[in-house]
Amino acid sequence: MSDAIRNRAAAAEEVIYEAGQLAMRYFGSLKDLTIESKGLQDRVSEADREVEKLIRDGLLSAFPDDGFLGEEGGATAEIEKAEFLWVIDPIDGTDNFVHGIPVWCISIALVSAGQIQAGLILNPNQPELFIAERGRGASCNGSPITVNAAKSLTGGVTGIGFSQRQPSEPTLAALAALCQAGGVFQRNGSAALTLAYVAAGRYIGFYESHVNSWDVLAGLLLVHEAGGWSNDFLANNGLQTGNPVVTGGPGIEAELRAICAPIIDP
Ligand code: IPD
Ligand code: CA
Repeated sequence: MSDAIRNRAAAAEEVIYEAGQLAMRYFGSLKDLTIESKGLQDRVSEADREVEKLIRDGLLSAFPDDGFLGEEGGATAEIEKAEFLWVIDPIDGTDNFVHGIPVWCISIALVSAGQIQAGLILNPNQPELFIAERGRGASCNGSPITVNAAKSLTGGVTGIGFSQRQPSEPTLAALAALCQAGGVFQRNGSAALTLAYVAAGRYIGFYESHVNSWDVLAGLLLVHEAGGWSNDFLANNGLQTGNPVVTGGPGIEAELRAICAPIIDP
């Protein structure tokens, strides 16, 4: 890993802790929070916007030539030309956040040369910081993590995601197949946190029929660096338009891919 990437990962670690402190201040006074609707079952709060601004200001003041793509504030100009691109979800699990459920996180990914180079996910409620750097493994609060060793879908809990951006049928079909295979599932409302938990072996896998890059890039590097697999999320301009995601530990790959075939190849 180059110094340029290592320096950026170190800066992101400082910024994500500051972002976590700001988010927790908002989370501690929810009755004062301004919440707006972005669409069906899709909310955004003042906390999402202010946390994203803190992250953007922090990273771009240190690395002014870098590109930035955030869930709430959008992208800087010509992100495809940026040598280093930050992809941020300031609060993933916004619906949990605004309803006082402590299941949400902050996600920061660094993309360069067409690959995810670093990924950080902070759950400030725990608190747990998950970090992955390409080729250097994945950790939680400084201890190495690995994906679950389950050899079948009967061996643990599969995370699922669903949003009203997508038709429900493929998700329900995959869910039925998962149950018939002896699996069980959870939808915790934060794709990023679910992926961190897949990397840590807490869930055996995860699928969602469509997610945006800010939801999953950091988490996907965590899963890969922890020994897992996924579909090629960045294919077909996944960075800007999103894609399905299917991922997990090696022992369930064939089974989960088969169940999710209608999601990956509709
Ligand atoms: C959402 C969450 C949810 C997933 C959605 C995302 P948000 O992000 O990750 O779990 O199912 O696809 O949009 O709105 O909480 O940032
Ligand atoms: Ca999100």
